[in-house]
Amino acid sequence: MLRFLDAGESHGKSIIAILDGFPSNVKIDIDNINFQLARRQKGYGRGARMKIESDKIEVISGIRGGLTTGAPICVAINNKDYENWSKNIDGDKLEEIDKIIVPRPGHADLCGALKYELDDIRNVIERASARETSIRVAIGAICMELFLNFNVIITSRVISIGEIYDNCDIYLNNSEVFSTIEESPLRCFSKEIEERMLREIDKAKELGDTLGGTVEVSAYNIPCGLGSYTSYDKRMDYNIAGALMSIQGVKAIEFGNGINSSKSYGSKANDEIIFRDNNYHRSTNNAGGIEGGMSNGMPITARVYMKPIPTTKIGNATVDLNGVNTISRYERSDVCVVPALGVVCEGVMCFELAKAFLDKFSGDSLGDVKYSYDNYIKRIAGR
Ligand SMILES: Cc1cc2nc3c(=O)[nH]c(=O)nc-3n(C[C@H](O)[C@H](O)[C@H](O)COP(=O)(O)O)c2cc1C
Repeated sequence: MLRFLDAGESHGKSIIAILDGFPSNVKIDIDNINFQLARRQKGYGRGARMKIESDKIEVISGIRGGLTTGAPICVAINNKDYENWSKNIDGDKLEEIDKIIVPRPGHADLCGALKYELDDIRNVIERASARETSIRVAIGAICMELFLNFNVIITSRVISIGEIYDNCDIYLNNSEVFSTIEESPLRCFSKEIEERMLREIDKAKELGDTLGGTVEVSAYNIPCGLGSYTSYDKRMDYNIAGALMSIQGVKAIEFGNGINSSKSYGSKANDEIIFRDNNYHRSTNNAGGIEGGMSNGMPITARVYMKPIPTTKIGNATVDLNGVNTISRYERSDVCVVPALGVVCEGVMCFELAKAFLDKFSGDSLGDVKYSYDNYIKRIAGR
């Protein structure tokens, strides 16, 4: 089974992960992984930290001569900001530093301090921070190296920032569309709507406030039959939705046309089955590529809804750990991270799909996985 575990604090030395269950002989191009890390750091609305950090992956184990060995892959992203923060993080000097006792609403601060019996909220902030998404992007990028062998493409775009929507229906698996989105500072398709979104972010910044929004993430060329209807925890939608929901700030997920489907007739919501080129297809993709917990061969598409960044200059009423009423404090923070969210969602979806892919086409080496994949594709095409 493909799995990973990560560790590390936002301003600690490094964020690391161990990826276990990855087949041998997969070519890993470190530049591709660093490229994904750089994409996560871009986007209009990010704070000053993104100028300090320029994330790069360090491989500790599991890759030799550019190929995976089949052993656990351990990777690290070192925090450049650590040098500036080491006196706040290193054990022997902590008494010199003021403790954080004012919890920010919308963050893990209060529940984390109560749950872990901490009198310094810094311990919560450091691990609850979305800095952790950098390693999830790295893990997704490693899984993408596997998928390069199977023509799988995973991509995303920004659909909304605050109240401004770019709701046009576009097929993301197209190089021109991809370039337009990548060149946009908001990873949004429409230039005209991008302009309005930029102004909306500027306005929020002037007000000392923040914004959320929505991204669409899609996976192409996923064969029919990943995941299963046989048990709740094998269902693809259960796994992908859970993983996307675990991204910091995400509050809702929609597969395909889920919200509109809930308002329409069954006969309109179903994706009709057609047979073409010796294969089954669907005339529409309202289900977002998942039926009965399994991929159905259509693109897997999810919309991911993010709340506004909770740290604001304006602040909110709160109560400190001594029970005194006060206003939440401000610490260097982003105004809007929806463009980065898209990149994180790609990585998170990529890992979940790789897990389901390797469950179906299990093998210790890339050759074994390919053999199993080819046989299956031949079998279902012949039906
Ligand atoms: C890429 C990314 C960057 C983020 N940056 C910030 C930030 O600078 N300031 C902040 O308050 N929240 C930021 N967040 C959101 C918080 O981490 C998140 O709202 C918080 O941890 C509480 O988690 P929850 O909203 O899932 O309950 C970011 C989220 C992501 C995905």
